[in-house]
Amino acid sequence: MTVKTRILLGVTGGIAAYKSPDLVRRLMERGAEVQVVMTAAAQKFITPMSFQAVSGRPTRSDLWDSAAEAAMGHIELARWAQLVLIAPASADFIARLAGGRADDLLATLCIATEAPIVIAPAMNRVMWANKATQANVDTLMARGVRVLGPASGNQACGEIGAGRMWEPLQLAESVLEPPANAGLLTGLNVLITAGPTRERLDPVRYLTNRSSGKMGFAVAAAAREAGAHVTVVSGPVHLPTPTGVTRIDVESAREMYAAVHRHIGEADVFIAAAAVADFQPVTVAKQKIKKQGVSVKLELEPAPDIVKSVADMAKRPFVVGFAAETDNVEDNARSKLKRKKLDMIAANQVGDGIAFDCEDNALTVLWPGGKSEVTRGPKIDVARTLIGLIADRLPPPDGSPRRGTRKRRPPPPADSRARLRSRRVRR
Ligand code: PMT
Repeated sequence: MTVKTRILLGVTGGIAAYKSPDLVRRLMERGAEVQVVMTAAAQKFITPMSFQAVSGRPTRSDLWDSAAEAAMGHIELARWAQLVLIAPASADFIARLAGGRADDLLATLCIATEAPIVIAPAMNRVMWANKATQANVDTLMARGVRVLGPASGNQACGEIGAGRMWEPLQLAESVLEPPANAGLLTGLNVLITAGPTRERLDPVRYLTNRSSGKMGFAVAAAAREAGAHVTVVSGPVHLPTPTGVTRIDVESAREMYAAVHRHIGEADVFIAAAAVADFQPVTVAKQKIKKQGVSVKLELEPAPDIVKSVADMAKRPFVVGFAAETDNVEDNARSKLKRKKLDMIAANQVGDGIAFDCEDNALTVLWPGGKSEVTRGPKIDVARTLIGLIADRLPPPDGSPRRGTRKRRPPPPADSRARLRSRRVRR
């Protein structure tokens, strides 16, 4: 890095504050200048002196510091910052930030700065899951605040779950290299299906497939990173929910169909990454099917085709399907694109060691009249590229050129939700 990034690091009250001096060090190693501002609660966990020692600058905490305020210190600091990072961000501070409060130096700086704000939440898992906290995070994200974490794992309170602050190294790398897709889908509602479905045969058996949900969850994380409000309707998987994503768990194709249609009215983009059953048993036996003779006949009927049902709607979102193919990938996918009347299809070759239940994927993305190859890589990288392609193909809200063909994307207006909803494709 040739130019030093000036980072204002806000430290709020939480046990994870003990990691923040290491964060200062990691940021400075990467060439950043760091000014630490602490809340009163943060000082119950760690002293200002620790930060002064690592940052080489006096730690600030007092809105009423007469020496600093003689020169309007808080406004100077707000202008000085090129980036504001709050780590750890406590539930209380997130609430104050969402409420636009100016009741201490850090909160005041946040509303007085024009620099981008990034928060790294850290709290007990129940506090993180609390609806008020989630609503506050949603409010902040809708305003363009970037949320990094929290991670899942063992917590200082002895519980296990989502609420751990990201590690200092991960935070330092992420804030100094913002995601390329940031802001591409700001204000849009994206509905995603992920994972397999289970079609019950009897109380103990079911038909399913090898989908782990990793691809769909990666798409959800990438869409969220791009600024969308994301809901994922997931079949049975063993994955943590990506930060800021709303999750609805279902089991069968029928349940997935119902959940999708409950939320599709809100969606601007629908991405069907789930491996939904094509067939379901005609009847589900009430008792365990007994072993009789040498063979058993199962009567199956077509399961509802979810993506097609959405694409058939009179007023529909932008519809993206996936195609899992073992052979003739492009031809088969292109015929699915046409048959299901999709706006885009992401085709993946499936087989041992690729696509299903593994970390990597590669896609051939097709749309009417176009194509793009996404080379093999971790699913999150593949998902980010796919989100970029979707953003390029989305109909513009007001007849302006598509993103790929215009020079700059205008910032979304305050009423972006309503305006962007007009992107929905009318047929
Ligand atoms: O979950 P992972 O382990 O990470 O694996 C990822 C994946 C291979 C499952 C994923 O990348 C993928 O390809 N998902 C779609 C799998 C699939 O069902 O493909 P398909 O070609 O059978 O279906 C075509 C499209 O129709 C898909 O968008 C599918 O979601 C949709 N569909 C299919 C059947 C059905 N009843 N309803 C549907 O909506």
